[in-house]
Amino acid sequence: MIGRQQKLQYTMPLRHFDTAKIYGSEAAVGKALNEAILGRQIEREDIFLTSKLWGSDHHDPVSALKRTLENVGMEYLDMYLVHWPVKLKPWVNYPVPNEDDFENLDFESTWAGMEKCLEMGLCRCIGVSNFSTKKIEWLLDFGSTPPLVNQVEMHPMWRQGKLRETCGDHKIHVSAYSPLGGPGNAWGTTSVVDHPIIQSIALKHKTTSAQVALQWGLSKGSSVIVKSFNQERMKENIGSFDLKLDYEDMVEIEKLEQKKIMRGEFHVNETTSPYKTIQDLWDGEI
Ligand SMILES: NC(=O)c1ccc[n+]([C@@H]2O[C@H](COP(=O)([O-])OP(=O)(O)OC[C@H]3O[C@@H](n4cnc5c(N)ncnc54)[C@H](OP(=O)(O)O)[C@@H]3O)[C@@H](O)[C@H]2O)c1
Repeated sequence: MIGRQQKLQYTMPLRHFDTAKIYGSEAAVGKALNEAILGRQIEREDIFLTSKLWGSDHHDPVSALKRTLENVGMEYLDMYLVHWPVKLKPWVNYPVPNEDDFENLDFESTWAGMEKCLEMGLCRCIGVSNFSTKKIEWLLDFGSTPPLVNQVEMHPMWRQGKLRETCGDHKIHVSAYSPLGGPGNAWGTTSVVDHPIIQSIALKHKTTSAQVALQWGLSKGSSVIVKSFNQERMKENIGSFDLKLDYEDMVEIEKLEQKKIMRGEFHVNETTSPYKTIQDLWDGEI
């Protein structure tokens, strides 16, 4: 049993792939990875594959993870995350729940199921996503295995200072989703990459706004989960590893106004959701 000892025993460089049941991308990601492994372009050990437990699967994380493993065609995941602190009725296989789709959270039982996944060797690490500081502390109180990762929205305009501090105290890695602010998503914004301060830092270093935003997240010790369908931008994004931001850049970014883009309103309602307001969902951290 790995129990409280679970840790990220990986050496760089790794290729991290982030998927989730609700994205509908597990099969495509798994197919591409298996082709690359069979073609001897990469070894399984060179990949770090993450997927996530959707709200409708809180009843039985072991069965859900087994289905995910079938989808990706792998024997294990590197990381399995609880996607949201939200439990939904078992048939809710869509991203935006209806008002009567919610159940009581009962997270002790969900987390016990996640721990079972770990014990069974179906995944190497377990963690959470979209957890506030308060929910992390609550989970640490009852879980026999602490989460190794909290995957949350994080970029220069949503810096997660308090959450990073708490997670740091408990050796929980903060992984940054939407690290560019999700431009192009219906709910995303171009305000991060278009921000004049970010652009002026990019100009100073003869680089791009995206590289500044990504290197900012890396400088904070986070992994950055950036998405692009464009090969040139993928290369540009990888180039952010080579950028060095100086102290003044970091200070300037610290002064930017904060703006959360993934607010999760679809998990809030006054009747069946345990979260009656957006403040309830994020425990006031919004
Ligand atoms: N745990 C969660 O609840 C959660 C929530 C949201 C996202 N995520 C994860 O985080 C990943 C990324 O999140 P995201 O897509 O919301 O945000 P993002 O990576 O900040 O933004 C992606 C958008 O930025 C564009 N882009 C990428 N590189 C760029 C560059 N160098 N310059 C300008 N634009 C660039 C992409 O367009 P092109 O494709 O045209 O390049 C795409 O529209 C997702 O794929 C998912 O795996 C997790």
